[in-house]
Amino acid sequence: PQTQQQTEDYLFKIVLIGDAAVGKSNLLARFARDEFHANSKSTIGVEFQTQKMEINNKEVKAQIWDTAGQERFRAVTSAYYRGAVGALLVYDISRRLTFDSVGRWLNELQTHSDMNVVTILVGNKCDLKEGREVTTAEGKALAEAQGMFFIETSALDSSNVNAAFQKVVNEIY
Ligand code: GTP
Ligand code: MG
Repeated sequence: PQTQQQTEDYLFKIVLIGDAAVGKSNLLARFARDEFHANSKSTIGVEFQTQKMEINNKEVKAQIWDTAGQERFRAVTSAYYRGAVGALLVYDISRRLTFDSVGRWLNELQTHSDMNVVTILVGNKCDLKEGREVTTAEGKALAEAQGMFFIETSALDSSNVNAAFQKVVNEIY
């Protein structure tokens, strides 16, 4: 699949995964359109956005796929992961339960996609300082143990959102 992607004019398929309401759709909205929706509804099925990006002065296209965290709203799992070369595995730093799910998402990703999918663990909502339930050190340690990159983001205040997507694309390329 990787060579196939590369012949298609550097079109990289990247998937967003993680529990419901961790902010997957808002990370994508912030990245692709610089928008934030305080009252966004759960994603139903699958949505995607194609975003032009630059690596070493070369233009590439990232096709970023987004589905629901909740099983009953999700797209067909195998089709969702097919051909993906990058993944953002998102949890919410203010809800430990979403961090506890990371292993399960990683399992699903590894079951349905290539071994070498570039994966970044994303602790989103880092603007919620008072409500933090997962420390940065815990996030880092888990990412390191599982061979993922790590970053904390806020779709609300834009912190590190571009950096998260750029990191994945840089490492794929
Ligand atoms: P599903 O589609 O159901 O899987 O959810 P999702 O992961 O796409 O979450 P979504 O982007 O819809 O965001 C869920 C809620 O969290 C919304 O109310 C967002 O406004 C809020 N939210 C998303 N990102 C952030 C963030 O960085 N900070 C804060 N404070 N809230 C956020
Ligand atoms: Mg969503």
